[in-house]
Amino acid sequence: MAGVLGGLPDSVLQFTYLVASVLFIQGLRDMTHPRTATRGNATSAAGMFLAVVVTVLWFEILSPVVLAAGLLVGGTVGVWLAVTVETTEMPQLVGLFNGFGGGASALVAGAELIDVLGSSTQLSIGLTTTAAIAGIIGSVTFWGSLVAAGKLHGVVGDSPVSPNAGHALKALFLLLSVLAGLLLIVRPDIFGQVPVTSWIPSYWVLVAAASVLGVFLVVPIGGADMPVVIALLNSYSGLAAATTGFVLNNTVLIIAGTLVGASGLILTVIMCESMNRSLRNVLFGGLGGETESEEMDDIYEGQITETSPEEVVMLMETAQRVVIVPGYGMAVAQAQHAVAELVELLDEDGVDVEFGIHPVAGRMPGHMNALLAEADVPYEKMRELEEVNPTFSQTDLVIVTGANDVVNPKANTDDSSPIAGMPVLNVSEARSVVVNKRSLSPGFSGIPNPLFAKDNTSMLFGDAKESMQALVNQYKEATS
Ligand code: TAP
Repeated sequence: MAGVLGGLPDSVLQFTYLVASVLFIQGLRDMTHPRTATRGNATSAAGMFLAVVVTVLWFEILSPVVLAAGLLVGGTVGVWLAVTVETTEMPQLVGLFNGFGGGASALVAGAELIDVLGSSTQLSIGLTTTAAIAGIIGSVTFWGSLVAAGKLHGVVGDSPVSPNAGHALKALFLLLSVLAGLLLIVRPDIFGQVPVTSWIPSYWVLVAAASVLGVFLVVPIGGADMPVVIALLNSYSGLAAATTGFVLNNTVLIIAGTLVGASGLILTVIMCESMNRSLRNVLFGGLGGETESEEMDDIYEGQITETSPEEVVMLMETAQRVVIVPGYGMAVAQAQHAVAELVELLDEDGVDVEFGIHPVAGRMPGHMNALLAEADVPYEKMRELEEVNPTFSQTDLVIVTGANDVVNPKANTDDSSPIAGMPVLNVSEARSVVVNKRSLSPGFSGIPNPLFAKDNTSMLFGDAKESMQALVNQYKEATS
């Protein structure tokens, strides 16, 4: 049915879609740097707004009342989430968004099949094929994302199941969904006079089988690997949207979906490379688990030097160069503001102070950069691994706060370690290292960290926010 703009030439619609697509691409480009990322977000959102408005006014898909109700409910939920969700909960929110994108693609493809059958007795092979693909990928994405978000949020069990568990079940449900898809594509009436409406149930069988597949694919993966899984599911949601674009013959959906699919895949590869792990290992391997306490005792016993804020401030007072290495614990403790204040104080006193940021510090790409930017730390102070590593030998003091795996020398020295080969920040090359965390507990990879036992390392035990605030207070007192 034609909408308010439906009388205009089709070229106007296509041109508007082109403008929206250019806005998506420019937005993605801007998102590659923290300084322009906010603008990039707004540019992409403007592109999506344009695409949605023009589509709605062109085709008159829904009545204005239903549309307004949808906008009100969706807008309210969106604003509420944006205001209330903590930065540390962002990965699961992204997971939910991916899931809804995938679910919407599966539902829209199904609705299109029903719609076309309402006015025709035939479904083209192109339509059934793309609908089947969108249904499978969309359903896997929806259920897989729900499980991934649930694991990250701690509402779905976190322990990795045996990596090999469930492979047969996954194969069975993959086969079922593919068979249902083939039935949809290969037209059941070749087996006799079957009414066309019987095509639709095979689509919903496909959706059900792919939904179970999505759950089985993600359930065995350890909770700590969920950020990679979410990036991959992000890519799937893009593929599902692009395929639905073919179902609907909608250019902007094909372009937007392809961009999401490609960028999600690139992000997944970057995350895997930064951890020196293959995607296969993340999806079917498993990392984490129990640390042997004897192994911890062997490394730590009698080797740990504890320090206090007073002693750390004494080191700071004589230092000419200080590097701060933040990690997941800084995010959990929300210590970024105290850290930023400490850096400002050192900066005012002429100390050369920078951050050493590992690409997978925290639990999502750019996690540390986003938190530090939120605390108004200048981008110039955030150094990437390759830039900062050569400077540690000329650094007087490194303060590691809430980081563990990203400063674990085992990555370089122990080929059998789960983080073997992962590039790490070589902080022990500095004159003194202070590690701030609450205990000697391992990080994400579940292995002990020999850095804590080194001669030039001392441990400042405590919550990152409280410890950093204590350093700020102590430094002010000592230098006033
Ligand atoms: P982790 O190795 O996970 O270590 C974080 C440390 O923070 C823990 O050992 C914990 O020790 C400490 N901590 C927790 N809460 C704290 C608090 N309130 N105050 C002070 N310390 C606290 O973190 P990392 O060094 O940032 O490394 C990230 C890991 O996540 C890597 O192994 C990486 O491969 C993995 N990973 C990252 C990503 C992305 S994209 N960033 C994605 C998937 C996996 P205590 O309990 O003793 O305090």
